[in-house]
Amino acid sequence: MAHKIIIDCDPGQDDAVTLFLAIASPEELDLLGITTVGGNVPLELTQRNARQMCDIAGRFDVPVYAGCSAPMHRPLQTAEMIHGETGINGIDAIDPQTPLQPQHAVDYIIDTLLAAEDNSIVLVPTGPLTNIGTAIDREPAILPKIEQIVLMGGAMREGGNRTPSAEFNILVDPEAADIVFRCGRPITQMGLDVSHQVLSTRDRVDRIKALGNPVAAATAAMLSFFDRYDTEKYTSKGAPLHDPCTVAYLIKPELFAGKLCNVSIETQSELTLGHTAVDFWYVTDRPRNTNWIHSVDADGFYDLLIERLARFGD
Ligand code: RIB
Ligand code: CA
Repeated sequence: MAHKIIIDCDPGQDDAVTLFLAIASPEELDLLGITTVGGNVPLELTQRNARQMCDIAGRFDVPVYAGCSAPMHRPLQTAEMIHGETGINGIDAIDPQTPLQPQHAVDYIIDTLLAAEDNSIVLVPTGPLTNIGTAIDREPAILPKIEQIVLMGGAMREGGNRTPSAEFNILVDPEAADIVFRCGRPITQMGLDVSHQVLSTRDRVDRIKALGNPVAAATAAMLSFFDRYDTEKYTSKGAPLHDPCTVAYLIKPELFAGKLCNVSIETQSELTLGHTAVDFWYVTDRPRNTNWIHSVDADGFYDLLIERLARFGD
């Protein structure tokens, strides 16, 4: 049976690839809707970018919602230095045909979950957790409806990518992340420790480009832009494909390995704000709230991604 999912995102090239992978996988994923949040770029761009990905995928029917433009208690910080001014540099940003739904994303999340069966909907956040944290804070009655939360964010051995201690998604809204990690629902976390194992190397991007359909072409073009910042910073052979790890896990969990751990969020310290403290060696008695993913079959991940992107040429 397909997972009913809501993807909450801040496109962002890697968020965009997540949307393509989800749309290409109807056997495993029933994409109920896409909600957008301020993150990599401001909300007016992330919502437009998400709609443009639906256009490129030919799925003008997917409902897209705009959510919170800023974190719960802090000003927004963005990441144009990585994603470019539009957030999807590598391709031209256009005014999409896919409409923006009039309802606020947080209200959509709350209404959809309240109307659902218990344990029936998977939330897939791939940006700052503002929409999810706000929905839980405003209406805790949604919690029993959440089957699990599969999110991209945080780091352990990899250290931070925005500060020495914090990964971007968690840092942008640590209070929202704290609400999510304390909510009591099952969490699977794709941190930098695993996303830095799935590098979009030249060979892999060339394999995507060779598929020759519009979705694959857009993916290759975006990844070619997205590569430049991280390859220089990490001297790696390609940019980490962070966000698609979430839906790849839902499609093919056997590609990944994790360990149930406590993960707690730093919300006070200026020095380590947004840090995800992963109790990997059980040195505390804190509740083991998170399936902390630490390994992935990177070749298997790209084989899956390429096989699914090829479907857009059928
Ligand atoms: O730190 C990586 C995360 O920040 C990814 O979700 C990327 O899209 C950015 O939002
Ligand atoms: Ca993202």
